[in-house]
Amino acid sequence: MISFLTLLPFFGLSRAYVWPSPQLDALEAQRWDQDDLFSGLAGFIEPCDFFTFGDGTGRANTADWIRTAYHDMATHNVEDGTGGLDASIRFPEEQSRGENVGTGFENTIDPFVGFMSRHISLADLIALGLITAVENCGGPQIDFRGGRIDAAEPNTPGVPEPTQDIDSHVASFARQGFTQTEMIGLVACGHTFGGVEHQSFPNTVPDLNDPNNTLSVAHFDSTFGAFDNNVATEYISGTTQNPLVVGLNDTTNSDKRIFASDGNVTMKSFASSPELFASTCATLLARMLDTVPRGVELTEVIKPLPVKPTQVVLLLDGDVLKLSGLVRLFNQSDDSSRSVALLLEDHAGKTTTNVTLTQDHISHTMGGRIQSVWYAFNESSEGSPTLSVDPVAGITKMRFIVDGKLEDQGGVGFAVQDGVVFSSSSCLTSNRPTTGRFDIAVRNGLNVSRVYLEQEVKDDVGRISVQETDVAPPVQPVAAGEAYSLWSITFSDENFTEYTIGAEIDGVKFSTIEKHGLGDLNLCTKSTPQRRI
Ligand code: HEM
Ligand SMILES: *[C@@H]1O[C@H](CO)[C@@H](O)[C@H](O)[C@H]1NC(C)=O
Ligand SMILES: *[C@@H]1O[C@H](CO)[C@@H](O)[C@H](O)[C@H]1NC(C)=O
Ligand SMILES: *[C@@H]1O[C@H](CO)[C@@H](O)[C@H](O)[C@H]1NC(C)=O
Ligand SMILES: *[C@@H]1O[C@H](CO)[C@@H](O)[C@H](O)[C@H]1NC(C)=O
Ligand SMILES: *[C@@H]1O[C@H](CO)[C@@H](O)[C@H](O)[C@H]1NC(C)=O
Ligand SMILES: *[C@@H]1O[C@H](CO)[C@@H](O)[C@H](O)[C@H]1NC(C)=O
Ligand SMILES: *[C@@H]1O[C@H](CO)[C@@H](O)[C@H](O)[C@H]1NC(C)=O
Ligand SMILES: *[C@@H]1O[C@H](CO)[C@@H](O)[C@H](O)[C@H]1NC(C)=O
Repeated sequence: MISFLTLLPFFGLSRAYVWPSPQLDALEAQRWDQDDLFSGLAGFIEPCDFFTFGDGTGRANTADWIRTAYHDMATHNVEDGTGGLDASIRFPEEQSRGENVGTGFENTIDPFVGFMSRHISLADLIALGLITAVENCGGPQIDFRGGRIDAAEPNTPGVPEPTQDIDSHVASFARQGFTQTEMIGLVACGHTFGGVEHQSFPNTVPDLNDPNNTLSVAHFDSTFGAFDNNVATEYISGTTQNPLVVGLNDTTNSDKRIFASDGNVTMKSFASSPELFASTCATLLARMLDTVPRGVELTEVIKPLPVKPTQVVLLLDGDVLKLSGLVRLFNQSDDSSRSVALLLEDHAGKTTTNVTLTQDHISHTMGGRIQSVWYAFNESSEGSPTLSVDPVAGITKMRFIVDGKLEDQGGVGFAVQDGVVFSSSSCLTSNRPTTGRFDIAVRNGLNVSRVYLEQEVKDDVGRISVQETDVAPPVQPVAAGEAYSLWSITFSDENFTEYTIGAEIDGVKFSTIEKHGLGDLNLCTKSTPQRRI
């Protein structure tokens, strides 16, 4: 027990994980490639007061995302471990409760659902929505852990409401796991964004009749799309327009009661130090996001990999293995004199390929504070679109050399699985109706007990799991060059979709990251390479 505890800081804090790790790779991309074309949520919040839904002005997606994370979490009960950040807010039954008035939850969840995968739950995306909003709109960096599990049913009610008295609010936050001081902090950290909308709270906010704020949202501070301590400075200086402080009807002035509940000590400290406000919010918001139902185990804090291969595709094309992909250099300048080389190692331990990569694109994260520079594998010296490798030699790992410095994860390299790959002999036998065949190339001499296609399916409450369809081993071996044999499965209109390929090699499950479907398939021709041996 003692050695376990002393080891934890070493593994948890001083090391990022080793690539590849499908779930951590996916979470890392969603967390650190915020503005990238492959995974970014930041496109929805540029600029920070951008509102996607309807024609009105005065609201912001950022504010909806932050309120959604809080309302999802606020059902937590520290005593019995129920509730917490588990995406139960997606259920119409929860959204229709008085404590969840407004359209902000639906507006948040609709676009997030499109980013879900077998590796990223909706609850993780709700957490990442808050982090992306805060980090891109002036706020501090917030620790993110993944692995939240989406609830199967609505949680018990428990979100505080502005009509409740201060004792109820203190008790409510205690039930959620936060002290009175932490309550003041969390409310201030949340209410630096957004405001109260007339339509949802007509007794608190009148119709503002403002052409620049057609939805009549009375904002909590003068900068409703930005993270800053104005919510505190304006409150302390007495200039605040916060509708939950200076509302005409004192019953709903919950921020006034909460902010003053320790004699203004906490709010004064926030007003006098933007740095203290930011660091307090980073800590409290991370704890809020990590408040999950008992039994859910979160990953370690997801740190960026300094050198990360991504979009890696390996397939067998006739007599060659073709490799394409990108490598991301995290937090680097746009330096045209930088040299990035990719080395491939084969099964005999020999370096078979040593090519210089060219810059593909640049992406940003944390509101432009961090820049990543991406290089494509495919720009080989011969100018071919992908790297070609002799299948007999195969590929076991990649290494990179960046400005003369070897990047190979401390010697282990970046492992590439060439045991079971998609074969480009896969093809359509008919366009209408759609019928065709997936060919999967299995490396000879490996102990492959199963090959299957994987399809992400949603259950009746929207949670993603993986459905496996076995590919029967060939009755007679079908050679694909010297090193591989083909296993095939047909598909038709009814089950036409995109699949990842799964296999059990020496009893260990492995799946490709990339999906294959219609986009990869040409019409079958007579010359499709298939010969029996
Ligand atoms: C006693 C606790 C709290 C009460 C009574 C409360 C009350 C409210 C009310 C009445 C609104 C207006 C909603 C609307 O017009 O649709 C609101 C908005 C908001 N709340 Fe809270 N809140 C509390 C705590 C928090 C916390 C802890 C956070 C986040 C850390 C948070 C984040 C937000 C945000 C971002 C908005 C703006 C939503 C928008 O503009 O669309 N609130 N809150
Ligand atoms: C609306 O915004 C514009 C541009 O920022 C500003 O010039 C104008 O005064 C604003 N109108 C009102 C009623 O606040
Ligand atoms: C103040 O608000 C409460 C709660 O919405 C409501 O019950 C009460 O009638 C309001 N009081 C006045 C004077 O409008
Ligand atoms: C807290 O600050 C507000 C705003 O300046 C002020 O109105 C109120 O009297 C203060 N309350 C206490 C208990 O100091
Ligand atoms: C990004 O790089 C700068 C300069 O090298 C460094 O100071 C900063 O800590 C880095 N940020 C992150 C999040 O790694
Ligand atoms: C890769 O190629 C570069 C430039 O051609 C060369 O300097 C380097 O030594 C090579 N590295 C290996 C490991 O082959
Ligand atoms: C290189 O690969 C990237 C991503 O895989 C692709 O977008 C790009 O078009 C490719 N470039 C060339 C020249 O093939
Ligand atoms: C598609 O359906 C056909 C007929 O039911 C079946 O034989 C085949 O295995 C299925 N293919 C996949 C990829 O699920
Ligand atoms: C092949 O893998 C299976 C499943 O792990 C194992 O039971 C079997 O012993 C392996 N066979 C060989 C020849 O290694």
